[in-house]
Amino acid sequence: MENAARTAAYHALMAERTDDVSRRLAAIFPGDEPQRFVWELGCGHGHFLNAYAAAHSDKVCVGIDIVGERIKRALRKRDRAGLQNLHFIHAEARLFLGVLPRHVSIEQLFILFPDPWPKKRHHKHRIIQPSFLEAVAARCAPSARVHFRTDYQPYFEDARAVFVEHPRWEIADEPWPFEQETVFQARAESYYSLTARPVRA
Ligand SMILES: C[S@@+](CC[C@H](N)C(=O)[O-])C[C@H]1O[C@@H](n2cnc3c(N)ncnc32)[C@H](O)[C@@H]1O
Repeated sequence: MENAARTAAYHALMAERTDDVSRRLAAIFPGDEPQRFVWELGCGHGHFLNAYAAAHSDKVCVGIDIVGERIKRALRKRDRAGLQNLHFIHAEARLFLGVLPRHVSIEQLFILFPDPWPKKRHHKHRIIQPSFLEAVAARCAPSARVHFRTDYQPYFEDARAVFVEHPRWEIADEPWPFEQETVFQARAESYYSLTARPVRA
């Protein structure tokens, strides 16, 4: 395929994905009254959010992952448990944030064992970046929290520094809100956790 054709195909695919995620979000959050939700980014097979949603039936929970097969498995678990307050969407995090309806805010964001991208030249792929935290802060409720956990200490230190240096975030000295082992947590020898909250403008 030639470059121009490849670019056109890419744009068509992105437009299709954007429409799909927008439609799913409109179905989860109808109307325009303010609503809050608990978001898990990179939910994998959905172990964490299934347990969290079962224990918090008053909260709307949405898990996303870029791998469609993982979302299918997460949805099967959700359906077996019959959880009405839990949704899983095949979506990339920045695309998801970009189409999140204006009346909807993030109450909690869980990022559990994100891809660590250990090589320096790949650090730009890490999800915890100043620009991403800026985009998240713009969609957070004032009392929101981000809960981040990794087993890769260099990523933990780096992520912590990104939060500390970011003008819209501060580290919150709070206990981890909910324990449920994920697939990657089960494989980890040890791990590091932080909670951050948005700073009022
Ligand atoms: C290392 S796995 C951890 C999965 C799960 N949280 C756990 O602890 O078992 C990271 C997950 O994040 C997903 N992911 C990576 N980048 C993403 C992005 N930008 N948007 C959504 N999901 C993403 C991957 O597909 C993968 O399922």
